[in-house]
Amino acid sequence: MEYGDLICERYSVRKFSSQKVEQEKVAAILEAGRTAPTAVNYQPQRILVLDSEDSLEKLKSVTPYHFHAPLAILVCYDAAVSWKRSYDGKDMGEVDASIVATHMMLAATNLGLGSTWVGHFDPDKIKTAFALPENIIPVALFPMGYPAETSVPHANHGKRFDLGVTTFRNSF
Ligand SMILES: Cc1cc2nc3c(=O)[nH]c(=O)nc-3n(C[C@H](O)[C@H](O)[C@H](O)COP(=O)(O)O)c2cc1C
Repeated sequence: MEYGDLICERYSVRKFSSQKVEQEKVAAILEAGRTAPTAVNYQPQRILVLDSEDSLEKLKSVTPYHFHAPLAILVCYDAAVSWKRSYDGKDMGEVDASIVATHMMLAATNLGLGSTWVGHFDPDKIKTAFALPENIIPVALFPMGYPAETSVPHANHGKRFDLGVTTFRNSF
């Protein structure tokens, strides 16, 4: 899909068909994440692919926002690896993980899949459920799959501020 169409077509899909996602598509989505830029190219992203019955059941215990999707991708970063800015110690891991996540989210749309960026989960519960070490920080969860025939964008989807509200040229 042409990029302009892709970003307009994407919306948060919260209703999925039970059709499984082909492994080639999962691989293409992971590859899209791999190409993302990261601070100092440290590539601190750590990705969990959740597609077994067991994993998907566990997911249901850590967030209500699983949408019964046949696949979920959890984007984390390794805080032992991510770049820390010297001026203020800011950890760029979350920024890196978010860029990776955005690449993957758009790649999924381009492959005819739907997903929603989910931030509403208990990170401690996720870490326990999936035995994540202390330094692995979950950032974004993507329930993913083929949109149900009845899936439609939420009423909020089309609501975006005019550029004048969010954009400043040479002043703030
Ligand atoms: C950082 C972030 C966290 C989000 N967390 C959730 C969530 O926990 N549950 C949910 O249903 N949607 C979540 N969303 C989806 C937003 O609600 C959605 O992107 C927004 O309303 C715009 O709608 P659209 O994606 O259809 O354009 C999240 C989106 C972002 C970027």
